[in-house]
This record gives sequence, structure tokens and C-alpha cells, in this order.
Amino acid sequence: MDEVIRDFVKEAKADLRARTDVKAAFASLRDEMRREADVVAKAAARGETVIPELAFADVRDGKVSDATRAQIRARGCVVIRGVFERSRAEDWNGEIGDYLERNNYLERLQEKAGLDNYFGELKSGKPQIYGIYWSRPQVEARQARSMAETKRFLNRLWDVRGPTGDEFDPDVDYAYADRTRRREPGDTSLGLSPHMDAGSYERWVDPAFQRIYAPIFAGDWAAYDPWKAAFRTQTREYASPAVCSMFRTFQGWTGLTTQGPDDGTLSLIPISRAISHVLLRALQDDVAPDDLCGAKPGRALGVDARWHGDIMPALVSIPEVGPGDTVWWHPDTVHAVADEHKGHEYANVIYVGASPKCAKNEAYAQRQAAAFLDGRSPPDFAPEDFEVDFEGRATVDDLSELGRQQMCL
Ligand SMILES: [Fe+2]
Repeated sequence: MDEVIRDFVKEAKADLRARTDVKAAFASLRDEMRREADVVAKAAARGETVIPELAFADVRDGKVSDATRAQIRARGCVVIRGVFERSRAEDWNGEIGDYLERNNYLERLQEKAGLDNYFGELKSGKPQIYGIYWSRPQVEARQARSMAETKRFLNRLWDVRGPTGDEFDPDVDYAYADRTRRREPGDTSLGLSPHMDAGSYERWVDPAFQRIYAPIFAGDWAAYDPWKAAFRTQTREYASPAVCSMFRTFQGWTGLTTQGPDDGTLSLIPISRAISHVLLRALQDDVAPDDLCGAKPGRALGVDARWHGDIMPALVSIPEVGPGDTVWWHPDTVHAVADEHKGHEYANVIYVGASPKCAKNEAYAQRQAAAFLDGRSPPDFAPEDFEVDFEGRATVDDLSELGRQQMCL
């Protein structure tokens, strides 16, 4: 960490520690977190569903019950099945493979290695991620009606009211162009240790984050509501390749193949309040005054057994999902990609999150649109620009009316 940031951290920690009895707050929180983690771990061991699941048809028809909504809010994640027809997602999978092959992606990658070190500090290294953003299947998945309906449902799980008006418009969503994962069966080297995105040390230091987490920092963690949107679009993150500049109500992906436990895919800690543990843990006496349990600028915020042993037992795999199913998680939800893919099929996904209309997202969408028109990598990502001369890349002619709106074009 550079000296300036180290000083910020030191100052912010001293301030937060002076405001409340962080030791007492953490002690009471810890009991609650251990209890919740135990509930999750035991349910998962019995083979019960811990990650809420629902069918896209119920979202489309407005048939999701309040009980299910409450469950999603408590768990901080959800599987929504059948957002796309299975056959359509399978076709996309083949099409992306062709696109990469036809344009010699792997050979070009070797030439450009080393531009993206976002995951550099996480123990397991880099996953099988492809730096392409504008293949036709990716663009089609982002602009699909069913995807827009799904995102509207998810955005509306938030309480959008803020002190100066609504924090975002839950009914209008921008496209956030992200990469794609294609993970080979048998792969052992490309996992991701448990982490959360959308800020590391900023979560303690940034004034907007301090307001979002105010009840936690005041020691009243039970009063914290992860779904209050106020100030969420006003956080400022350290600029770095592959740190998301948009506010996402949910991170997410769409499955292109069948994948589940043991297939080297996603695990989650399905406790939406677990962020309280991460925040208060770093303020305890056994963490150095200028340290936040290893948080590093411009990197994912790692969560590990040394500091966060109370919540780690709750790290559970997603259930098996198929092509066209989607998985979604709150920006504070801890997630990981298993170290080993023990299955027999590729575990492939297209990353599509929910990023609703607000000033922050609009500003990014405009910069992103310029990159799209040239086929460059979006502004958040390492400027690999693989697709500039790729054959078969999506262009503005491939955008629907909705797609143009989502791209600010
Ligand atoms: Fe992540």
C-alpha cells in the first residue's frame, strides 16, 4: 500500500475506533454471525437449498412472493432460472468459442500478458477469463427483454430513497460490458479466493461508504440494512484496471453450460449482513493501526480464515445451474471460485450484472459507448483491445432499441 493511502487508513481507523466501543460491538456481532453461519452450513450439509431459487416466469408474471423477496434480502444472492431458453444459451456458448478461435484469441493473449493484475494478491491466481466484451452473444444477452425484466425485479429489491431524491431508477438499467469465463474440466490452477468486489480499503475510508455503513460503525450492526440504496452511487473507488466504475445492485452471470458443486464454479457466503463482520473485524486491537486485514487498493477485498473464521463455514456452492439460468449477488456478498474443476464439462458464463440508471452509471456508460464503437476494451478494463479487428464483433447495427438506450447511444 502506498504511504498516502496507509496514512488515510490509519486516520480513518483511529476515527472509527474513537467513535464507538468496537470491541463490544464485534463481540455481540460475532455470536450472531457464528449462529447464522452454522445455520447455513448445516442446511447445506443436509442438502437443503440455502441460496434462494426462482423461475424467470414468476419474475415476468409478477408472482414472486414477499417471503421469497425477504429470503433473497437475507441471503444476499439468488438463482433465477430460465432467463433464456436452454438452446439459445447453448448456441451462444458455441458461438463465443468460434469467435475466439476464428480470431486467434489465445495467441494474441500471449503477446499482451501482464496487463491485468486485479487478482494478483489472491492466493489462487487468475481464473479462466477471456477479455472479450463485444461478441454478439454477450451483446444479445445484455439487451434481451428477459434480462431487462430480471434486472428490474432485482433493482426493486432495494429501497431507492435517498436524502436528495431517489438514488437510482430501478426500472432503467445500463449495460455494463464485462468479460466471459470458459473453464476447462480438470483445471486446478485458476480459482479465486473468497472476496468481495466494489471497493477494498474504501469501505472504511470513503465518506459515502462511511454513511452507508454508519449503523455498523456506530456499533448498532442490527440496525444496518444492506438494501438501503442511499449513498451507494456516491462512493469513490481507487482507479485500477478491472475495478468496476459502475454501481451494481447485483453482480451476476448467465450460465452457458451446466455447472454446480465440484465444477469449479461459484461459491457464496449467503449472509447479506456478513459485511458487518468484515468491517468490524478490521477495527479490532489485533489488527495493525494502518492495516485492514490485508485490504489493498485496486484489488478485490479478500476474506480469509485467519481474520474471518466465524463466517467462513457458510461458504457454500451454488446449486447446479444450466444454460440460460442466472446467478446474482449483492455487491457486499462474499464469493469465490473453487480451486479445482472436478467435473466433466466446461463451466462457462457471460458476466451480466445489474447497473441501474444514476449519474455515476450514466457517466460510465457514455465512456463505454465510445469504446464499443471502436471495438476497444471498456474503460474499466486493461486496454488489451483484442476485438478492434476481430471478425464477427457486434456493432451498433446489432443493438435493439433497448440495447441502444442501455448503451447511451
Ligand atoms: Fe468477484
